[in-house]
Amino acid sequence: MSKTVPLSKKLHVKTYGCQMNVYDSARMADVMAPHGYASSDQADGADLVILNTCHIREKATEKVYSELGRLRVMKEEAAREGRRMLIAVAGCVAQAEGEEIVRRAPVVDMVFGPQTYHRLPELVTRALGSENRRGAGVVDTEFPAEDKFDHLPEESASQGPAAFLSVQEGCDKFCTFCVVPYTRGAEFSRPAAAVIEEARRLAAAGALEITLLGQNVNAYHGAGPDGRDWGLGRLIRALAEIDGIARIRYTTSHPRDMDDDLIAAHGEVPALMPYLHLPVQSGSDRILDTMNRGHTADDYRRIVDRLRAARPDLALSSDFIVGFPGESDRDFADTLRLVREVGYAQAYSFKYSARPGTPAASVADQLSEVQKSDRLEALQQLLNAQQRAFNEAAAGSVQPVLFERRGNRPGQLVGRGPWMQSVHADAPERLLGSLVDIAIDLGGANSLSGRVVTVDADLPSPSSLPPPPAERVSA
Ligand code: 5AD
Ligand code: SF4
Repeated sequence: MSKTVPLSKKLHVKTYGCQMNVYDSARMADVMAPHGYASSDQADGADLVILNTCHIREKATEKVYSELGRLRVMKEEAAREGRRMLIAVAGCVAQAEGEEIVRRAPVVDMVFGPQTYHRLPELVTRALGSENRRGAGVVDTEFPAEDKFDHLPEESASQGPAAFLSVQEGCDKFCTFCVVPYTRGAEFSRPAAAVIEEARRLAAAGALEITLLGQNVNAYHGAGPDGRDWGLGRLIRALAEIDGIARIRYTTSHPRDMDDDLIAAHGEVPALMPYLHLPVQSGSDRILDTMNRGHTADDYRRIVDRLRAARPDLALSSDFIVGFPGESDRDFADTLRLVREVGYAQAYSFKYSARPGTPAASVADQLSEVQKSDRLEALQQLLNAQQRAFNEAAAGSVQPVLFERRGNRPGQLVGRGPWMQSVHADAPERLLGSLVDIAIDLGGANSLSGRVVTVDADLPSPSSLPPPPAERVSA
């Protein structure tokens, strides 16, 4: 990569949706840096604006079109000032809708999918060469035969103390509600050696925590350096050996791919954090079947039992869909029962959103918005109560927290504990990027707060710190 090109142009990437998109956005910036584009956190004044989009639910897609309306005004203003502002739509809406986007929003100069952003400089050159007449945008939404990871430059900047690393993409499972198999294509795993190399570079740049990403990350089956096929458990064991990597997480996983070795790794690899996002979607066998999930509610319960046997302090998170076509009161009650039995530290829940082209969208038995909203509210009440109880139970404990950023209050840092909870504490700036023991005083609905307890010559000793708040619950 050339290091001599001055960063004279501005690139603004706005990211929607999942962590995979967050990772892809960072890599798009890496691709454009050698061509003189510096990242900017504002669209105003940018030479290139990329919306990295999400197509998973209708709402996510609609947000893109309203943002394009705002960008149109900025682009016209730029043109009046004699500047050219290129607008690109990337990610899953781009993949799914392709040219339709340019027809609906002629302000868009470029449309490209998640598999082609390594060709971004070439697309920009083509777009700059065109007049951007109505419908004349540059569209590239193929699934190219080449592996984009082989064509991406090395990550340019440190991602900070907690980094993402994409190891797997795509999905072959075809849940009947989901667009991912269509927008992200077939399952693909990066070779283990390439993943290990990237992890080493991230660690050298200051990452202590690595989150392995994939639409079906535990379906990972990459070529190992020993010529064998490596599963995710094997990969995690190898990554845990890298100097400097103290924490490993992975997301998002599927119950069907939770194999013996991965479950065992939860008990055997101390760096593998005791928190797992394992979506179940529904607690009803009938609905799981029509969703084509390939497992029953009891299969899921058994997997959770085995994981907890391997790692007793494991906390769980999940995704749920309510109001799937044909979901009866009884099916929904089964979901509530599963939630009560498993107990979640945190979870995401959604109203079913019919996505064009997916099998469930054409089923006649669609539920009303009112039914979906009522069920979502009931489920979220239960999940919120579980989350609050989980957070409250942390009060009185001491947790290693990886400080990732400054807090809103001066002198405050924010990081995450082992169970993914956000933890706020007063701490000196130099602890940013370090793992620090924190005595948790309070567990709230969405985060924890506490005090530094690490014994360190430069820090006030715990006894000289202010007393804990009255609400503190002792261990
Ligand atoms: N409607 C509602 N939620 C959906 N998800 C995926 N597709 C849909 C849809 N059509 C949810 C699932 C998945 C999460 C990423 O988004 O719960 O796990
Ligand atoms: Fe979508 Fe199902 Fe694949 Fe997850 S496993 S990406 S929900 S099709």
